[in-house]
Amino acid sequence: MTKKLYLETHGCQMNVHDSEKASFALAGAGYELTTVPAEADLILLNTCMVREKAARKVYSRIGELKRQYLNKDKVPAQLPIFGVMGCVAQAEADRMFDRNKDIRLVLGTQAIAKLPELISQIEDGFGRAIDIRLTKNAEFFELDADVRKTEHVAFITITEGCNKFCSFCIVPFTRGRERSRSADKIVAEAKSLAQHGFKEVHLLGQNVNSYGLSGRYHGNSTEKEVEVSDEVTFAKLLERVAKESGLPRVKFTTSYPRDFDEQIVKVIDEHENLCEWIHLPVQSGSNRVLRAMRRGYTRQEYLTKIAAIKNAKKDMAITGDMIVGFPGETEEDFNETLSLAAETEYDGLYIFKYSPRPNTPAAAYADSIAEEVKTERFLKLQELQMRIQAKRYGRYLDRTVEVLVEGESVRSPEDCFGHTRCNKVVNFPSPKNLIGSLVNVKVTKVKNHSLYGHLV
Ligand code: SAH
Ligand code: F3S
Repeated sequence: MTKKLYLETHGCQMNVHDSEKASFALAGAGYELTTVPAEADLILLNTCMVREKAARKVYSRIGELKRQYLNKDKVPAQLPIFGVMGCVAQAEADRMFDRNKDIRLVLGTQAIAKLPELISQIEDGFGRAIDIRLTKNAEFFELDADVRKTEHVAFITITEGCNKFCSFCIVPFTRGRERSRSADKIVAEAKSLAQHGFKEVHLLGQNVNSYGLSGRYHGNSTEKEVEVSDEVTFAKLLERVAKESGLPRVKFTTSYPRDFDEQIVKVIDEHENLCEWIHLPVQSGSNRVLRAMRRGYTRQEYLTKIAAIKNAKKDMAITGDMIVGFPGETEEDFNETLSLAAETEYDGLYIFKYSPRPNTPAAAYADSIAEEVKTERFLKLQELQMRIQAKRYGRYLDRTVEVLVEGESVRSPEDCFGHTRCNKVVNFPSPKNLIGSLVNVKVTKVKNHSLYGHLV
């Protein structure tokens, strides 16, 4: 009998891709996906720790899901298996079992391949299962093109983990040391995805620009490790994917200012299928704060890289992340952040209020900023960004843009939605048989976070 898996994903694209891997691993153990929690035999939450008080949210979410289940006249003895994966699982480890007695599976970020084994342990009567090992040489979980859950757009992991240890960030603790996948495998995966009809891939990593720079390449354990040489940089990998994959669109995220170089811009300019979008988080515009964040670059260095992107032959879109209210951030520091945002003119900006994370150095810093001040700064930066964004989006009015039609629009069924090459959302009236193809859309209306238009 097939069993049902309800899988909920929070957080970044890496998590979206990990969920895809988890559902594939569980298909092998007889589980098929359901969107109805109340009919699930296994409820798995893929969690994020970087945004908000995510850890606490996990527990309340499990409570909610349990109530939905009980409302279906199920007796508690038949409760589904509740499992937690992702960064919260990695960081909270076995403490999760103590905080919520319904949790029976805690799966670390490097343990997805172990899912079937751990689930069968639980099914065989062992009350709980956990695997939160992090190793330097952990293997990558590879996913063939024909078992993907996403359509039209696919994710390819190129690096995992992070070695940067920015003073505010928990990722190095939850995702482990940075590892790069072999370029041959990445290129083969990209090719295969193109052959299976995918139109766009996103090369993923916490810091894609340091691809090949740290550690060694790790493939399957049978494969001999290859020493890293200067031969394989991110720019070279990007070039290979562009040339060899046959994909119409290649995007990548996330870039890191210190490792981002002009060579990347040059390669994007040279290859039609490399898209005009770069996500380059700066975090702060103040050199003092950047130092306290241990980001390893100055405001001036960042702006030099931004200038290189703006000087590209292609018309590039730039997005970023910024943190307001980092410990010790003065009004003057914050004004530097505002002025950097104004100078860069981001097409999109994710703004975060600083929140202390366990084990990170910044959590112990003095001079924490009052919540009201964080909120005030957040709103001020957001207001500035909305003005900049109106201008950036306004440029597209009356322009014709290429859109990958990804699906029916949620709000109005006559419309489809998709993304431009510069990663903006576009809605437009469209027959459904165009889903999965690249079309041209003339922009007739500009909204805060999306464009609207008609097919040409
Ligand atoms: N390189 C990674 C960064 C992961 S964290 C990536 O983008 O994939 C994503 C963003 O969350 C960071 O860029 C930062 O702006 C924000 N962030 C991370 N830790 C935070 C914290 N402790 N408080 C507030 N925001 C944080
Ligand atoms: Fe986090 Fe800095 Fe790495 S923000 S993911 S430690 S680059």
